[in-house]
Amino acid sequence: MAHAIGIDIGGTKIAGAVVDELGRIVRQERVPTPTDTGALEDAVVAMIGTLRGGEEIAAVGVAAAGFIDAAQSTVYYAPNIDWRNEPFREKLEARTGGTVVVDNDANAAGWAEFRFGAGRLVSDMVMLTVGTGVGGAIVAGDRLFRGGFGAGAELGHLRLVPGGLACGCGQFGCLEQYGSGRALLRMANEIADAGGIGQRLARVRAEQGALDGGLVGDLIQQQDPGAIAALRQLGHWLGEASASLSAVLDPQRFVFGGGVAAAGELLLEPIREAYLEHLPARGYHPEPDFVIAELVNDAGVVGAADLARVWVADHA
Ligand code: BGC
Ligand code: NA
Ligand code: ZN
Repeated sequence: MAHAIGIDIGGTKIAGAVVDELGRIVRQERVPTPTDTGALEDAVVAMIGTLRGGEEIAAVGVAAAGFIDAAQSTVYYAPNIDWRNEPFREKLEARTGGTVVVDNDANAAGWAEFRFGAGRLVSDMVMLTVGTGVGGAIVAGDRLFRGGFGAGAELGHLRLVPGGLACGCGQFGCLEQYGSGRALLRMANEIADAGGIGQRLARVRAEQGALDGGLVGDLIQQQDPGAIAALRQLGHWLGEASASLSAVLDPQRFVFGGGVAAAGELLLEPIREAYLEHLPARGYHPEPDFVIAELVNDAGVVGAADLARVWVADHA
């Protein structure tokens, strides 16, 4: 079986890897993500060129943060990138001369966890990626759920708060505004402004000019009460959303990935708490488990490569 290439376009970096059929990384590359969409496309094309070696490559899978069509070709819309009906696959195939399959970034990460990581022993799994945005992946009955137009499993855009904060998708009150890395920063800033347990956050903010994910992550590791309080708020929103997802999908396992998942058990605890509080038929519904993703930073590239391999097999 040939190797496949997986590319994961993240908010800060583009990761790429040659991956074998068992999900193992053979070679990898990393570059910063350009903000301009033309430069971003150039960077992906260059990375595909660099990663192609002597061996046979079955296909290239590209994971991107947006609503993607059922043909795994066009990005209908990306809340945090300037793409509207972007024919990404067509462009990349024309420029690289091989089969390219475009997938949602969270679908790719969720698929990797299901095949090779935290979801491999269950048939039904929901993954939420907690990074710049909130991504979702649904595996139902051992299959990746895409929806009728391909753009299903956009779990970050579930409405949690009627009339809530504006979201990059054009709506208000989405989970992404309450459960993402950006939301965590907003909560940390609010706690810093309020004084009290926020004093250390305020001090670090003054010293560094601004808070960022790394600084808040360090303070969480150091058990700073203000940073932990922000993480608990975030976890509660994620847990409340998970309870509604249970009513629809009833997974055996919820997997949390993305940068914020580095907080581990400190994140899972408030998620479980809020889940149990908001679960329909609570006390009578079997309890799923809540775990942190196993493949961490590699899930996107491994899943994108494997989904490209699946696409080639299905279209042979
Ligand atoms: C996008 C999703 C993406 C998620 C994580 C959301 O804003 O709508 O397509 O999976 O961010 O990157
Ligand atoms: Na998704
Ligand atoms: Zn939204």
